[in-house]
Amino acid sequence: MTAKKLLTAIVSACLLLSPSARAQTQAKPFDLIAWNGGKFIYGVDYYPEAWDEAQWDKDAAMMQAAGINFVRLAEFAWAKMEPREGKFNFDWLDRALKVLNAHGIKAVLGTPTASPPAWLYAQYPDIAAMDENGVRYRYGSRRNYCLHNPHFIAATQRIVTAMAEHFKNHPGVLGWQIDNELGDPECFDAVSRAAFQTWCEKKYKTLEALNKAWGAVFWGHTYQAWSEIPIPWNTLGKAYNPSLALDFHRFHSDSTRDYLKLQTTILRRIAPTKAITHNEMGLFDNIDYSDLNRSLDFVAWDNYPMFGKDYADYFGAGLSHDLMRGSKNNQNFMVMEQEGGLPGWSVFWGRQAAPGLYRVWAYQSVAHGADGVCYFRWRTSRYGTEQYWQGVLDQDSYPNQRYQTVAQAGKELGQLTDLLHGSRVVSPVALLVSPDSRWAFHLQPLVEGFNYNQQLRLYYDAFRRAGINVDVVFPQSDFTPYKIIVAPSLFVVDKALSDRLASFAKSGGTLILSYRSGVKDEHNVVTNSTLPGPFAELAGVAIHDFDPQTNQEQAVQGADGSHYPARVWFDILDPDTAQTLATYEKGYYAGKAAVTENKFGNGSVIYVGTESPARELYSRLIDYVGQEAGVSSGPSAPDGVEVALREKEGKRILFLMNYTDQPQKVSLGQSYRNALSGSAEPAEVQLAPFDVKVLTTL
Ligand code: GLA
Ligand code: GLA
Repeated sequence: MTAKKLLTAIVSACLLLSPSARAQTQAKPFDLIAWNGGKFIYGVDYYPEAWDEAQWDKDAAMMQAAGINFVRLAEFAWAKMEPREGKFNFDWLDRALKVLNAHGIKAVLGTPTASPPAWLYAQYPDIAAMDENGVRYRYGSRRNYCLHNPHFIAATQRIVTAMAEHFKNHPGVLGWQIDNELGDPECFDAVSRAAFQTWCEKKYKTLEALNKAWGAVFWGHTYQAWSEIPIPWNTLGKAYNPSLALDFHRFHSDSTRDYLKLQTTILRRIAPTKAITHNEMGLFDNIDYSDLNRSLDFVAWDNYPMFGKDYADYFGAGLSHDLMRGSKNNQNFMVMEQEGGLPGWSVFWGRQAAPGLYRVWAYQSVAHGADGVCYFRWRTSRYGTEQYWQGVLDQDSYPNQRYQTVAQAGKELGQLTDLLHGSRVVSPVALLVSPDSRWAFHLQPLVEGFNYNQQLRLYYDAFRRAGINVDVVFPQSDFTPYKIIVAPSLFVVDKALSDRLASFAKSGGTLILSYRSGVKDEHNVVTNSTLPGPFAELAGVAIHDFDPQTNQEQAVQGADGSHYPARVWFDILDPDTAQTLATYEKGYYAGKAAVTENKFGNGSVIYVGTESPARELYSRLIDYVGQEAGVSSGPSAPDGVEVALREKEGKRILFLMNYTDQPQKVSLGQSYRNALSGSAEPAEVQLAPFDVKVLTTL
């Protein structure tokens, strides 16, 4: 984009995305704020069982003073609630709830199954999961049970039933969080293997169908009895069939979903007035969240923006928020664990964030659709693995700077509640995430340097830099609300999905595909059509040759003469009906097409045969595509500042977030009202270091 065009985009009347009249196709979304009695959910994860009871009231008073009205409790307290098999003790939790409720604080209770008690392992050692090498996990950590173990299932039913019965009418309990961060581990024992064989039989009905789907003729791996089907041990080595291994991933995802459902069914039957959620992990991809979340009332997730990254990587957390929102029809969600201090286990992971950043991150959650923010954790533990995982308070309970920051944000979000209530994120662009493709790339990582999430980020970041909201969609999502869908490296694809994408383009949408799309069918078997297989006609190109990147340099030249380095993978495109947008510059295929565009029906399909470390390539591409698709850029924010938008009845709520330690300016081209102070902001908004402004149309 030239500087002049950029300026035109900024000052154009369509400064921001126009409010969408998108029809609500699904059931009424769960209203988190109404659920919390009309208050924005502002909470902490609290472990009263680990602190002297005399301290509880002081804690609750300090929470209340910081605007806290919500806690999550008990998700690791199985041993405390069921100290012996079938003997329950909820007295301590009743007393804790009483203290918290007296300070206006309501609770979600975690079902404690992520950390089963020692007595359960002693009694039934085989509840522990078995790893790929046939070694059982040992007692001492958490998340180490086998989902299929009948003793573990029975124990789960018992504790969940007891909790539901005890708290079903408790006015201070709003609902439940199921388990804690479901997804690990996969279990490779005989019970799990038998369950996998049953799963296969249910899916394929006949062994003939399974053998055909898996291409079991290869190396003579043909099955004549369901009981012969192995567990795909050593999936990252050699001895597996990728079709079998992909099905095993699906089996694990389905098993996790069924385990969650086992709990939700009990809770709904006994305590129908309580809501149910689960704390998820953003880009974590062992399970298909879009499937898991069908049996929840709303999505919650655990957001640690600094994880291994520098603080400038705010788009990483942004994408995770958007993915979590997208995993349940784009409905508003909450953050069940919002970073409240420096993370660490045996070592601290990184450096301390400036206190103001904790507030900026909380606002980022809200800007991306959170109607609740709950910090992990109230106070750093004195005990156990997480002595170095900071809470809001440290062990001494001193009201430190993080506490002051949390209190400031609590006060502000309280004031903003009416404005936020009923507002949501609306985006003209969607990023398609395919669980099957992600799993298939785990099994066969393609080439050194390839990373599916990195592909997502290249496109996602470009839209966000242009101030354009992005939704994440899954293969079953509704595609109709979008003008542009980006489906990076859509590797494993069934006919239903390729047909839906074709009709999206045909009816006027712009589809962006990138390299290694349409390579595999739904069984993880390579297509025998010319690549990009089911997308060849849509993209108007054929791929008869490709070149992985090993030890070589490559570059592409845009039709406008611009040059960009290229890396990882080079599809050598042979345009049929497509136009060439960029060509390769080096090697035996210099001059051949690298990026193409094809008119298809009323829409168009862009095929990007490579990737580039240069973000300018993506900015240029989305500027070009945006102009064609009628998606205008939002305000141009400097690096280190994020712009995000919620909407309510046509009214825009604009969040400007400064992640840097420097003052920043954002040119909006018009004046907005500051939602907190009520006063008008100049068209060029000033942001102090680590500060946030929430603005609405005047
Ligand atoms: C060896 C084997 C072949 C084939 C190739 C490629 O040469 O004998 O069967 O597997 O490696 O992997
Ligand atoms: C996850 C878990 C929490 C806690 C934090 C920090 O998010 O859900 O219980 O362990 O990590 O380690």
